[in-house]
Amino acid sequence: MILIFAVDNNWNIGYKGDLLYKISKDLRRFRRITEGNIIIMGRKTFESLPDKKPLPNRINIVITRNKEYKGEGIIVINSIEELYPLLKEINPNNEMETFIIGGGEIARQTLDKCNKAYITKIFKTFEKVDTSMPNLDLLENWKIVNKSRVYKDIDVAYQYIDYVKE
Ligand SMILES: NC(=O)c1ccc[n+]([C@@H]2O[C@H](COP(=O)([O-])OP(=O)(O)OC[C@H]3O[C@@H](n4cnc5c(N)ncnc54)[C@H](OP(=O)(O)O)[C@@H]3O)[C@@H](O)[C@H]2O)c1
Repeated sequence: MILIFAVDNNWNIGYKGDLLYKISKDLRRFRRITEGNIIIMGRKTFESLPDKKPLPNRINIVITRNKEYKGEGIIVINSIEELYPLLKEINPNNEMETFIIGGGEIARQTLDKCNKAYITKIFKTFEKVDTSMPNLDLLENWKIVNKSRVYKDIDVAYQYIDYVKE
């Protein structure tokens, strides 16, 4: 599975249920990369999507402990353990890629099953933060394999950094 996240200097990713910063070019890149594939998210990330609607042209899997949870156009599962047999069932030949799109809780619990990460590094330290993901630079087995040039968006600089787990 592949992690796809936008992080700040301290690998923070959110505050009060929303992203720290929205870069429209990054959001378009996110759509381009994930369309036609499977996206997996925690219930809080799902509820942060525009109108709490699934993202179109992708299989949306939402993880919650709430057994009653339902929503149009989403597959709901109640544990991380349920995820792996489900993926085998819906994607037996790995024709689709599988992305962990958020949030911090789900990233932490699936990290050991991920072997790639597309990180948008936003070169800014946000003051108001309450959610982070694991800092891949501090993990021995994660290595940077590609870095884009540094782009500018209004008042922030950002860079696309790809990691693989060895
Ligand atoms: N910067 C980025 O790239 C990025 C990407 C995505 C999200 N975000 C941000 O991250 C924040 C949300 O992240 P988060 O870490 O707070 O929440 P989250 O990971 O999106 O969702 C957490 C929820 O997932 C469910 N869950 C977690 N572990 C589970 C397990 N083992 N079994 C069953 N259900 C489980 C629970 O749902 P229930 O409470 O319903 O049981 C839990 O409350 C928001 O601010 C969002 O904007 C940022």
